[in-house]
Amino acid sequence: MIDVILGLQWGDEGKGKIADYLTPKYDVVARFQGGPNAGHSLEFEGKKFVLNTIPSGIFHKTTLNLIGNGVVIDPVRLGEEIARIQSECPDYKDRLLISQKAHLILPTHRILDAASESAKGDAKIGSTLRGIGPTYRDKIGRSGLRVGDILEADFNNRYAAIVADHLKMIQFLGYTDFNLKEEEDKFFQALEFLKTHQLINSEYFINDCLSQGKKILAEGAQGSMLDVEFGSYPFVTSSNTLTGGVCTGLGVAPKHIGKVYGIFKAYCTRVGSGPFPTELDNDLGEEIRVKGHEFGATTGRKRRTGWLDLVALKYTIMLNGVDELIMMKGDVLNGMENLSVATDYEVNGTISQQVPSNLCSTQVNPIYREFPGWGENLSHLQGFNNMDDSFKNYVHFIENYLEKKIGVISLGPQRDATVIKNA
Ligand code: GDP
Ligand code: IMO
Ligand code: MG
Repeated sequence: MIDVILGLQWGDEGKGKIADYLTPKYDVVARFQGGPNAGHSLEFEGKKFVLNTIPSGIFHKTTLNLIGNGVVIDPVRLGEEIARIQSECPDYKDRLLISQKAHLILPTHRILDAASESAKGDAKIGSTLRGIGPTYRDKIGRSGLRVGDILEADFNNRYAAIVADHLKMIQFLGYTDFNLKEEEDKFFQALEFLKTHQLINSEYFINDCLSQGKKILAEGAQGSMLDVEFGSYPFVTSSNTLTGGVCTGLGVAPKHIGKVYGIFKAYCTRVGSGPFPTELDNDLGEEIRVKGHEFGATTGRKRRTGWLDLVALKYTIMLNGVDELIMMKGDVLNGMENLSVATDYEVNGTISQQVPSNLCSTQVNPIYREFPGWGENLSHLQGFNNMDDSFKNYVHFIENYLEKKIGVISLGPQRDATVIKNA
């Protein structure tokens, strides 16, 4: 079976921490979509790492890690990421497998990302500028290059043809702020390094694992509200971030999907542009940003913050078929006098518990329910039953509203600051 762990909000829910925490139960951890727009933070034994493309199981010595076909790979960034983990994982090459069908992010994809964002002006998506959108566009447009292509004799010719097309687009957009020669030198060097890794036919690998009864964890990137189909389009990423993406992003049939873990923060964040109904664009929002260290793990940008949005959460639980919830960062709300969660949306005078089909053009007024805070003393060492009643009430209200159990509560960035909550 393939279990799935994915973010239910706008990304940065804490997927890296929990994927690492759950890894000992699995033989393989696999990424199925996204690319270096992701920044997954892990902390253990006093060490901190941020992973972008490498699955979060890499630090466990008996787990294989697969970068699946649905992922887009920037060889230069992957090389930098490997350099950051190499001393911790000298044997990483034995345990890192890369799909030959994963698409390559070319230097001109990154330049195109910057060019189109700059052309959009105020309407920009707030992309991470990692080349994600242009790479997926070429994939769907049937002109992309894949990891396996680097082993083919005609790679350089195909590369040159695509780059010529990209340069026309970049010129059309009037963008000049780049040095392609420098970027290409790094890119071709990184391709040579990439060739020294296990580049595999990963759909056979993963299905062999399934027939041998091995346990696989699919690790999502971004969040469900950033999904290209159901997120706050067009302010989304360019991949399928939902459970459905696991099948196409790894080459597995739906019948193999097992348990789906949905992760959410006890509040909400979003980085980049786009609608955010429960946003706190005020001092309180700033307080949460500072206490929660809500700055992008990849880009360092300020994350926007707001109250927990149960309407959106119920929507993404439905879309993903979530079996069990994992609540993160409750500790960040320690010491707050009162907190709120959105239980309904008011849209044009009508109360609704549905996310409108166009969140961008619809004025949504969240309706909140208030809760008393739980003081400063919340700690993972207490066990859930001994925690402050106000915290337990908060958790039980969320579970009742969502009709889904929270199985794990995280109260700190470290691997062990994690509480299993029994029924
Ligand atoms: P991901 O993209 O979903 O893996 O999440 P990020 O790593 O981008 O952002 C989550 C941030 O919260 C990271 O800095 C984590 O170290 C941190 N974090 C994770 N869980 C907790 C928690 O329970 N409490 C606190 N205070 N920080 C946490
Ligand atoms: P993890 O996996 C939070 C956001 C960007 C932007 C939009 C499109 O760490 O949760 P893109 O670069 O994909 O074209 O940007 O999506 N975004 C993320 N926000 N966490 C992420 O990943 C994100 N990956 C992309 O900020 O608004
Ligand atoms: Mg992140």
